[in-house]
Amino acid sequence: MKRPFAYIAGTGHSVPKNVMTNDDITAMGLETNDDWIIERTGIRQRHIAKDGESLASLSAEASRQAMARAGVQPGEIDAIILGTVSPDHLLPATAVEVQHLLGCSRAVAFDIGAACSGFLYGVIVAESLIANGSAETVLVIGAEKLSAIVDWTDRNTCILFADGAGAAIVRRTRTGQKGILSSFMRSDGALAELLWRPAGGGAEPFTPDTFESKRQYVRMAGRDVFKHAVRSMAEATDRALDAAKLTAADIDLLIPHQANIRIIEATAKNAGISMDRVFVNVDRFGNTSAASIPIALSDAIEQGRVKEGMTVLFAAFGAGFTWGSLVVRF
Ligand code: ACO
Repeated sequence: MKRPFAYIAGTGHSVPKNVMTNDDITAMGLETNDDWIIERTGIRQRHIAKDGESLASLSAEASRQAMARAGVQPGEIDAIILGTVSPDHLLPATAVEVQHLLGCSRAVAFDIGAACSGFLYGVIVAESLIANGSAETVLVIGAEKLSAIVDWTDRNTCILFADGAGAAIVRRTRTGQKGILSSFMRSDGALAELLWRPAGGGAEPFTPDTFESKRQYVRMAGRDVFKHAVRSMAEATDRALDAAKLTAADIDLLIPHQANIRIIEATAKNAGISMDRVFVNVDRFGNTSAASIPIALSDAIEQGRVKEGMTVLFAAFGAGFTWGSLVVRF
């Protein structure tokens, strides 16, 4: 048996209605400005959830679009895999609430905590379930409500992170023409504290002091994370291309994790892919971690940038550290 086992049959995305511009952040009293944020990150605006918009509701909306576009009914979904680091509750997984909202009563549902690589890891797990005969149709979601876990007084982080959800239906392929051609996954926990939330888990449960020290929020050593992101994304694109026995010239579009325009440009340069073959929407959505790649894919399809027959390279890097890549023929 050899690949492709599974293909992406439909996608969707949903972001909060509320748009926050860089000027809105300056207006909150932070010492930052539109020019700095655009130059250092490429971000112009982001969507931030308001009352009533939960991770589960955004995920369900993105999933309904993906199911409609794939022509899949709730009862046909065998598994729901949701990548997130900002679940609605620490217990249980947000995936089960999404299952309930969608009425996917047959589906097994679970979350994956792999930060920005969560969606790619989820697609690879979905493909494995399909390859081993456990599933025919899997709903993979990447979703974040990072606004709930960032410190809105920390200009190093709050300018970057945002909210949203993207979803894809992954199905068994019967033609062998299109689908997942190769994948690559890696993790390295040695540098976990460069991007983490110190408190809130079993190792450091919340106490009144937590809120004083703000240890419940995301902390990031931005410059160090940047260096590792560039190096790991380069490895990820090289390894997925090698495994698919393809070169950069065979790639119609690169869809990288949307963290920072400078990381995206470095990744494209390393891969030998010109920027006209790179999808960028970090300017409109900011860094939505696990949601960034599925939002970008859905956005790219809506814009006509991904069409039948095209070969797309995906690459992600996130907290953990985690990184990974996929080559998919559409
Ligand atoms: N506005 C104005 N000045 C700022 C801001 C801001 N929002 N943030 C930091 N600065 C200042 C710093 O204090 C520093 O000032 P100093 O020189 O007086 O000390 C100066 O700008 C430069 O700071 P750096 O941290 O070196 O800035 P850098 O160019 O590295 O940009 C950034 C910071 C945007 C965070 C960058 O490091 C980055 O993008 N890192 C990667 C982050 C990332 O992508 N994380 C996510 C990947 S993993 C995931 O998505 C979960």
